[in-house]
Amino acid sequence: MHFNPGWNDSSVNLLHVQAVGANSTLHYVWSSLGVPAVLLLYTENEHSTLHINWTQLLSPELAGAIWVEPPSSVLHASAVVFTKLFEYDGANASDPAHALFYPPYDLATFSWDSVNQTLNRTALTAAFWGTGPPGTFRNGSIAFQVTAYEESSRDGHLPGLLHTANSSKLEFVMDGVAPRGNSSRFMLEMVMVEGPGRHRRLESVRSIDDEYTPTIFEMVQLVSEPQGTHAGPGFLQWKTTAYGAREAKRENGIRCRYSPLREVNGTLPGPSIAHAYFGKDLGGLAAINISFGGEDGEIYAGTGYLSWSMLLGFGTPPEDAFSPLVVAIMAVALGTPVVLLVAGAIVVLLLQKKRYSEYEPIN
Ligand SMILES: *[C@@H]1O[C@H](CO)[C@@H](O)[C@H](O)[C@H]1NC(C)=O
Ligand SMILES: *[C@@H]1O[C@H](CO)[C@@H](O)[C@H](O)[C@H]1NC(C)=O
Ligand SMILES: *[C@@H]1O[C@H](CO)[C@@H](O)[C@H](O)[C@H]1NC(C)=O
Ligand SMILES: *[C@@H]1O[C@H](CO)[C@@H](O)[C@H](O)[C@H]1NC(C)=O
Ligand SMILES: *[C@@H]1O[C@H](CO)[C@@H](O)[C@H](O)[C@H]1NC(C)=O
Ligand SMILES: *[C@@H]1O[C@H](CO)[C@@H](O)[C@H](O)[C@H]1NC(C)=O
Repeated sequence: MHFNPGWNDSSVNLLHVQAVGANSTLHYVWSSLGVPAVLLLYTENEHSTLHINWTQLLSPELAGAIWVEPPSSVLHASAVVFTKLFEYDGANASDPAHALFYPPYDLATFSWDSVNQTLNRTALTAAFWGTGPPGTFRNGSIAFQVTAYEESSRDGHLPGLLHTANSSKLEFVMDGVAPRGNSSRFMLEMVMVEGPGRHRRLESVRSIDDEYTPTIFEMVQLVSEPQGTHAGPGFLQWKTTAYGAREAKRENGIRCRYSPLREVNGTLPGPSIAHAYFGKDLGGLAAINISFGGEDGEIYAGTGYLSWSMLLGFGTPPEDAFSPLVVAIMAVALGTPVVLLVAGAIVVLLLQKKRYSEYEPIN
């Protein structure tokens, strides 16, 4: 993890996370410059390097300020841009499409604390804490908390997402943001940016098993498959829940919904590091809204805290296997009739044998 590589000023936040494997390097670049965003680059070269022309990055013409050497090694490039935070009145309509909206918060106008203060190179975590323009957020702040991983495992905290070494976690946090109404709900808008020749699908994975994320049976993933290269897919993955307290528990779960993926025509609101890598004229943008709170969603108002986790990475998205407890329950549930059947058959056989043996052959 490198903070502002090649730049000696901490008034800008850029975090480069690099992972080197056999024949490949992953580069994650997180930044709150302009519109907060993350850039994901997968290169088929264990020596590929990220380059930043800071003069250009901090200028209005930032296209091309971030690149990778050798450029031909890049097999997958994508970005997620966090554009807006919406607030709406959820009293009547739990479906945000019919709700009354307050003026949205434009995340490009936020000011951010230095990430250097929160960077933990041992735990591989960092947090981007930001507040709205003066007078808007009333002492509240939001954060994008980043975790990188060194191996495949499962998160110890709810929602207990499974991860691989090729993925990172993003936790979106709202802390103390004063709602503007008595039944306010919040919604985060993300815009997906990718190179050409990609096929996206948004899919919902349901399971009967909620052992790892109690009461949540749905996982959502946005998978972007390459066309014409042998690079694997890139993905975003999340469970349909947020939590309304620092200590995430089943009781403070907040229902999380998502809108359909919407193709975006035109240019990306900017500037952002996505511009710096992809340039200004981007094709194939898609946006999605993630909203927090349903009919039962007064938890945020009570605690003033909300946290939602998402995994992003390369390769096939991690898939939950059935937990041992559920396997045991299924084994008992399915096994018992079989055991009864077998036992029944044996008893019948024994009885039959016995019955026959009670009679002596006549001859
Ligand atoms: C790395 O690349 C070499 C040469 O292209 C290939 O023989 C080898 O199998 C690759 N290793 C891995 C782990 O992909
Ligand atoms: C960085 O960008 C500036 C402005 O576009 C340019 O003048 C300069 O030559 C660039 N530096 C490098 C090392 O490419
Ligand atoms: C709530 O919805 C009902 C039925 O759709 C409508 O009659 C009512 O006016 C709405 N109330 C508010 C406060 O929007
Ligand atoms: C904001 O924080 C300041 C200092 O901590 C406090 O005096 C003020 O009352 C707070 N404002 C609100 C709206 O909570
Ligand atoms: C919020 O609730 C309080 C107390 O129930 C009430 O006095 C106030 O008018 C409500 N505000 C709005 C905007 O509905
Ligand atoms: C997200 O919600 C806002 C407010 O309703 C809307 O303007 C925007 O088009 C939505 N975006 C998507 C991707 O649905």
